[in-house]
Amino acid sequence: MTQDELKDAVAAAAIDEIRPHLARSTVLGIGTGSTANLFIDRLAELRDEFKGAVASSEASAERLRGHDIEVFELNEVGSVPFYIDGADEVNAHLHMIKGGGAALTREKIVAACSERFICIADASKRVARLGAFPLPVEVIPMARSYVARELVKLGADPVYRQGVVTDNGNQIIDCFDFMIDDPLAMEARLNAIVGVVTNGLFAARGADVLLLGDTHGVERLT
Ligand code: 5RP
Repeated sequence: MTQDELKDAVAAAAIDEIRPHLARSTVLGIGTGSTANLFIDRLAELRDEFKGAVASSEASAERLRGHDIEVFELNEVGSVPFYIDGADEVNAHLHMIKGGGAALTREKIVAACSERFICIADASKRVARLGAFPLPVEVIPMARSYVARELVKLGADPVYRQGVVTDNGNQIIDCFDFMIDDPLAMEARLNAIVGVVTNGLFAARGADVLLLGDTHGVERLT
């Protein structure tokens, strides 16, 4: 199976996971990225079984609307029963690195408001230790150089993601050569740097369920 086929298999498994819980009043939280896109495409077939969705990016909102799925503001909805999203890396504790698509802040906000975070990923995303994937950090533009210097002090090799502006009007620094032993502590440490909006460690609010696709099928981990 190709990586795209594995992504589609976990998207299908996520549909099976949520479908029994859908009601006409249900508003779902939807992530960002190629795996989330495959989930959105499959969700379109169930459009009459739920009310709509909160999206973690403008791109996902547009894709949802393209399938005639109504998109709601998070402030209108308050909380969502499920948040379904991909990951760049995920460990055995279901802590993740996210933000490869620069949507980390809104992803973290919707995840925080979800009762259940379902992570959908192909097996290449599973790691013993987070950090081989460069950790994204969203920064207020005027703080970029300051934050980069602080990241160097923590041992990272920070690289400005040129030409990328987030949906919130901010910039992204990717932390290379930054293996993470204690994701919970590092998430809090990075959040404490002035000028950091969000970092891509999802440990304080990790996933509740991981649907992981490999050539043998989809494994469900909790
Ligand atoms: C976007 C994300 C994505 O979930 C992550 O990058 C995984 O993307 P893909 O499903 O395309 O591999 O965090 O900001």
